[in-house]
Parts: sequence; C-alpha cells; structure tokens
Amino acid sequence: MAAQKRVSPPSGPSKSPAKTNDKSVSKKESAGWSHTLPTVPELIARKRDGGALSPAEIQGLVSGFVRGDVADYQMSAFAMAVFFKGMTAEETTALTLSMRDSGRVVDTKSVRARKVDKHSTGGVGDKVSLCLAPLVAACGVAVPMVSGRGLGHTGGTLDKLEAIPGFSVSMGVDAFVQQVKDIGCALIGQTDDIAPADKKLYALRDVTATVESIPLITASILSKKLAEGIDGLVLDVKVGRGAFMKTEADARALAQSLVRVGMLAGKEVTAFLTSMEAPLGRTIGNALEAREAIEVLHGKGPADLRELTLVLGAEMLLMGRVAKNDRDARRKLEAAIQDRSGVRVLRQIVDAQGGDPRCVEDPSRIPRSSRIVQIAATKRGFVQKIDALSLGLLGVAMGAGRTRADQAVDPLVGLVLHKGVGDKVAIGEPLCELHLASGPAAKTHDEKAFAERALAAFTIGSASAQPAPLVIDVIRK
Ligand code: URA
Repeated sequence: MAAQKRVSPPSGPSKSPAKTNDKSVSKKESAGWSHTLPTVPELIARKRDGGALSPAEIQGLVSGFVRGDVADYQMSAFAMAVFFKGMTAEETTALTLSMRDSGRVVDTKSVRARKVDKHSTGGVGDKVSLCLAPLVAACGVAVPMVSGRGLGHTGGTLDKLEAIPGFSVSMGVDAFVQQVKDIGCALIGQTDDIAPADKKLYALRDVTATVESIPLITASILSKKLAEGIDGLVLDVKVGRGAFMKTEADARALAQSLVRVGMLAGKEVTAFLTSMEAPLGRTIGNALEAREAIEVLHGKGPADLRELTLVLGAEMLLMGRVAKNDRDARRKLEAAIQDRSGVRVLRQIVDAQGGDPRCVEDPSRIPRSSRIVQIAATKRGFVQKIDALSLGLLGVAMGAGRTRADQAVDPLVGLVLHKGVGDKVAIGEPLCELHLASGPAAKTHDEKAFAERALAAFTIGSASAQPAPLVIDVIRK
C-alpha cells in the first residue's frame, strides 16, 4: 500500500546544491538513499509538525509522486502541511530543483549570448512579454521564453500571441533552441516534458486550497523557468486588486522567496514589485492587447506599458551583460525602438512561428470585433480608480478569458479604455468600449449587464487623482 511505502531513491545523484540544516538526516541518507529512509507518512508528519526535510527526502518525494508511488492524497496532505508550516529557503530550493529535474531541462549551451527571461505573476492588461522579448533580443540578449495561458481574470501570453493569425506556440525543444540561436528569441507554450511534477502538483493544489503558499508558488514558478536553460530571470510580481497577491506584504514575501531561491539555484534573479490596481495599458483582451504591445515597438502605445517594458528590459540587458548600467540599458532599448530593430525581431519570430508578419509592420491588420459598444460616463469629474479585477472578470464573462484550463477564448473579445486614472471626464464622454463576441456564445450574453459592470468599474469623483506609482520596489539578493 502506498501509505506504507518508503520514498524510493531518486534516479541518480541529486543535482541540488541546496544544503540542509536537518541534523536528523544521516550523512549516508543525505548523500543517497538507504533502507532507513522515512516513509511518506513520516515525511508528511515531520512537515506537519514544523520540521524540515532534507534535499534527498524532497527529491524522493517528488520523483515518487511523478512515478505514482506517492499517492495524490499523500502529496495533497504534504502540500497542506507546507501551506501551514512553510519551508526553509533550502527546502524550497530542493523542491524547485526536484520539480525542474522531473522533466527535460533545455540545453541552451549552444546559444552564445546570455539567456535571460522574464516572468510576471499575472495581471489585467499585462501584455509586456510581447514587446519586451523581441526588444531585449534586438539588444543582444537571448530570450528563450516559455509562457502560459490565461486563467481567471489574468491573461496569458500564449492567448495573446495566438491572436496574430497563424501564430503557433507549439514547438519541439530542439527547434526552440535553434530559433533562439537564429533569431535571439522564441515564444512558446509549456511542453509536456518541462517540469511535469509542477503540472501534477498544481492540479492537486488547485483542488485542495493549497495554491496560496509562498514556497509552493516559488517552486512552481522557478521549476518551469529554470527548465528553460536560462542564466537570469527578471520577475514582475504584481500587487493590488487585479493581481494574484493583493497586499504589498504578500507580494514582497513572494518576491523575496523567488530571489533567494533563484540565487540558491545558481541563477541571477531580480524581482520588481509593480502596481496592479488599474489595468496595464488601455486594452484588455487578446487581439487588442497584441496590437497595443506591437505599437510599443513602433514607438507608440500607452506610457505605463512602455515604461514597464523599459524598466524590466533594462534589468534583462544588465543580466545579459550587454549594458554598463541602467541608463545605458534604457538608451539601448530606446534605440532598438527608434531604429525598428525590435519590430524586425518580432517580425522574424512571427514569421518563423507561422504567423502573419504583416501584423507586426501594421498591427491594425490584427482582426478586431465587429460588435463594439461605447460606454459613456454618467458623472463628471476625474477618474479616481479603475478596478482591474472587475474588468478582468468582465473580460472573462464576455469570452476573452477562461475559468477552466480546457476552455477556448475568443481572441477578438475585450475592452478598450478611453480614460485612465487621473483623467478628466464629462457626462456622456466615452469611458471605454466593449468588443463583444459574435459567435453562438454571444446569444447567451447579457450585454446590458456587461455595460453596467464596465461602468461600475470606474470610480469618478470631483477631486483630482494620480495613478499609483508603477514600480513599488526592486528586490535583488
Ligand atoms: N503561477 C504558477 O506558475 N504557479 C503557482 O503556483 C502560482 C502561480
């Protein structure tokens, strides 16, 4: 019976550089595995009682889980024990590396440039990856980016890329590495062989109320990113109503954990805490966001989106060792916009991945909904707040996002914001527009309710207002 099984030896020596302070584990045990190894219930009990597990114990648990020797109910109990008792940075590092090594780690040694990626914890209107990755690649840093799909109120890079007609996010690992060598960047989805332990564990966490655990989130994010074969990672940890982390304290704790564990895993990691009270940019929805991101590469686009792209991009250039300092890095990124080299790189990526490259030269070629409804202000004054969470959820209800991983999205559905926080508005002036679905799903949509929800997301008052500062803090080791 699985409950009585001892966690069996990992298949090969541990690659983990993590150290343990757990003196109860003998030298023999921490170097490999012996018949004295604890059983799975003993490991769960130790974590439940606030003890620490050795790297070898964690690796055995993860590999046993992937093989099916550790049952789902045992791994769920372990996740709940971690949820309540936490993990040391060393344990979290061992979990991250075990999950990374549960699948294939992309070998990027043949790519000569330094490899740096960016990950965002997700927000409403966050389309930064689409303009950031080609811009950074145009400056000489390789960007092997493996992204996810949208779930709930936050969007996903893959859905936005697929709004470009023909664009494919599926690619084998060898082709992925070759494209990073040839163009400097590839933008793909997670393959089945990248960190399978994370996929399996996340599915359990999702249904056992154990997602909101800093060590589990850290290991989940980093295991996938480290499997890309990167040298460095820039993290955008979003804070606010539209973010996964609602408070600055929680976001800071996650950012600190990600930076520390990334460093213990031998990588350079910087985390930015950035505001997600209002949506980023002026669009929500896949095709609309793809257009807006491409506009940034053309030197246009909204100021907040452009600024965040430059902030994160500058850090990636520093990690990529192609800039002397932040000022130099920003100058190089701005030059890559000015001389259109960012546009050229995205055109090459889109072309190589089957998309219509003309959409990069002229983003207005990206299809748009034929059913657009304007929402006008019913009050005069200044926009005090725009509720990112409400608009993100509205986008999902309209068909732009999904509530279950297996749902399709309508790429043309979304919202365009005509007013931002701090803008003056008169009665009857357009606040935003809804880009509605037109397929069979649209028949079940209550468009009047959508319009009411959009209007309610704007707070208008008589006092002047300022948008929240975009970057709240930067966390380096
Ligand atoms: N994103 C991830 O990839 N994993 C988590 O656990 C939470 C957010």
